[in-house]
Amino acid sequence: MENFTIYNPVQLHFGKDCLSEFGPIARTYGTKALVMYGGSSSTKYGYVSTVKRLLENERIAISEYGKVAPNPTVEQVKEAMAIAQQERIDFIVAVGGGSVIDAAKIVSVSLPENLDPWAVMTRKTNPTQNIPLLTVLTIAATGSEMNNAAVVQNNEAGKKIGLVHPLIYPQHSFLNPEFTLTVPPDQTAYGIVDMIAHALEAWFGTPAPNITNLFTLTIINEAIKNGIAVMTDPQNYEARFNLMLTATCALNGITEICRQNGDWGVHSLGHELSLQFDIPHGASLSIAYPAWLSYFATHQVDKIVTLGKFLFNVNTPAETIRKLKSFFETIGAPTRLPWKNIGLEHKEQLVAGLNRNRAGGYVYRLTNEDRRAIVELMFNPTIA
Ligand code: NZQ
Ligand code: ZN
Repeated sequence: MENFTIYNPVQLHFGKDCLSEFGPIARTYGTKALVMYGGSSSTKYGYVSTVKRLLENERIAISEYGKVAPNPTVEQVKEAMAIAQQERIDFIVAVGGGSVIDAAKIVSVSLPENLDPWAVMTRKTNPTQNIPLLTVLTIAATGSEMNNAAVVQNNEAGKKIGLVHPLIYPQHSFLNPEFTLTVPPDQTAYGIVDMIAHALEAWFGTPAPNITNLFTLTIINEAIKNGIAVMTDPQNYEARFNLMLTATCALNGITEICRQNGDWGVHSLGHELSLQFDIPHGASLSIAYPAWLSYFATHQVDKIVTLGKFLFNVNTPAETIRKLKSFFETIGAPTRLPWKNIGLEHKEQLVAGLNRNRAGGYVYRLTNEDRRAIVELMFNPTIA
């Protein structure tokens, strides 16, 4: 086994009353905040007004950017940055899901040195400073609240990419599971798929010790168990609590202890689907995973069978893939193309985009031939 170092500086505040600590903590970061949020839910359900009230109680001046879209773009990052520059803010508060948090992370590292955020995303420029970031999470999905990754897309460049950087950990994240009671069924399902996908990317990565493997499999198990409970009763607080915690653990480093790399090939396939067709992140993964697993089923018999035994008590790759696919379908996540209006006429464009952006994993690299075959399986699933 390899040597390893663990580091995660995020201070996580979890539970119904966690925001009672928010105001005094925010005040330690200064007197001017930029509050970032998405197009509708955080305002509609009062999460933004709650956070603003807590800031105002501490006499913190507020500027706002409320136009972060799901699958955020570099333009939105630039717009938020312009406001932050004009108002000379001291810190950022992101209220929302992975999209809002990721956009805020890139503002946070681009602002102090006035860097071009796309140059930061593409690693042409290396930021050396950041503006403190506090997050108030409203959906259980990405794990962005407790990690140092951000994903932003650039429609002009035709790329949706991730950046992992030590300066983009939030300083504090506040997770009240009650805020997730308003997440609609489709977005709840996509979040469940995403946390499972994060554990699967780790599982199909480089080898890890047994304890890390058990953390990884347990995360998938918890996501399935509590996912079913939440889809059956969306107001089940305990299940929402467990899902929120599971999502955070799925991508905060636990599954990577003593593991050199996850694979992340399915995420790169999914990012192309989101880029080309504006598919929600989790939905892109519930389409891509069954196809990718079917394509590699004969190469990874042991890993897939161990997964199937632990999660579903089945004994073959085919049964495992069927069970996983059927779980995604049970919670209402799509598992194949065509979905919505993405018909066969888009197949070549999808293959071309995947090839142009060299979609593939760290462990399972993909050739042009592999990518075409996986896209075929997205349209015509066959599980060997
Ligand atoms: O648009 P708003 O108003 O914010 O509404 C959102 C959005 O429409 C809504 N929502 C969020 N909380 C809600 C709610 N609706 C009702 N009640 C609530 N409490 O849900 C929709 C989806 O939100 P979004 O933030 O887009 O979802 P998610 O958290 O899944 O984030 C997806 C983004 O994160 C990236 C994805 O690629 C995608 O761009 N990822 C980030 C990662 C990271 N930083 O570590 C890793 C992931 O693999 C992923 O790539
Ligand atoms: Zn993901």
